[in-house]
Parts: sequence; C-alpha cells; structure tokens
Amino acid sequence: MKVYEKDQKVKIHFKVNGQDVEYETEPRKLLVHALRELGFTGVHIGCDTSNCGACTVIMNGKSVKSCTVLAVEADGSEILTVEGLAKDGKLHPIQEAFWEKHALQCGYCTPGMIMEAYWLLKEKPDPTEEEIREGISGNLCRCTGYQNIVEAVKLASQKLRLGQTPYQRQ
Ligand code: FES
Ligand code: FES
Repeated sequence: MKVYEKDQKVKIHFKVNGQDVEYETEPRKLLVHALRELGFTGVHIGCDTSNCGACTVIMNGKSVKSCTVLAVEADGSEILTVEGLAKDGKLHPIQEAFWEKHALQCGYCTPGMIMEAYWLLKEKPDPTEEEIREGISGNLCRCTGYQNIVEAVKLASQKLRLGQTPYQRQ
C-alpha cells in the first residue's frame, strides 16, 4: 500500500475515454472532482453518502461510484464516462434508446444512469425487467419514476443484440 503525506502532491496517469491524462492531485481528492476538473462535467454529484449514483463511471470495466474512489486510487486505470460513448457524433444505442423512450427529464441522473445501463448490458445482454430494476437500483432519479428508464434499457438491449450499431465490449 502506498503511503502519502497529507499535503503531498501526487502525479497520476490514467486513460479517460481512450485519452492519456496526467493529473496532479492531493491524496484526499475524490475521483469525481478530478474528472469534473478535467472537463468531464457530465459526471455529477447528487449526494455525499454514496447512494445516488449520479457520479457513476466505468473504471477498468466495472461501474463505480466515482465519489467513493480517491483520484490516486485511479492511477493507471481506464475510465469511461458518458462523454466517451458517442462515436463521431453518432449516439451509442443506449443514448438513442433513452432519447426514444423519454427516459430523462432534468438529465442530472442521466449520465450515471446510462453508464450503469452500459455496465448492466455488458453483464446481462438480455435482462428481465426485474434484473434491469435491480441493476439500476444504485442510481436514483427524482424525475422519471424509472418506468421509461426501464423501457429504454430494454430497447437498448434489443438494439445491441441486433447489432444495429457497433458495440465494443470493453
Ligand atoms: S454522488 Fe451520489 S453516489 Fe456518488
Ligand atoms: S431525470 Fe431528473 S433525476 Fe433523473
């Protein structure tokens, strides 16, 4: 385990959405703040107790709540945020499905919700409604009542299985 001094500046390197990033940080800084400072402001902060999931990103292939990870812990990792999903302006099928099924209102939970859906559909390409609801149970939404989010995830799973657009498993 690495030991850091309280005010020590630490240089970390990680990949965000395929780009190499160098970032200098104090050891206590949370990954969510680091990502937002680096310009990935789609990563949101909705709570301070790890409940809401608005800060969800994919780190080394797993969905994580970036408010519960220190930036220094992300040294050497690969991170995917919602900004990295569309390719050349073409929406990822999950983004398309959220749009088509009206699965967002204020949009604050949406980046985290979409990243959780991305992870869920990698784990379970054809989830049942119950599995979808359980799969997104770490992501709170105050606007939609969840129903249209569930519909969007179902539609996204069909689109991905039908291969309507290229889908890279990471
Ligand atoms: S900001 Fe709420 S779980 Fe991370
Ligand atoms: S769309 Fe507003 S919190 Fe989910």
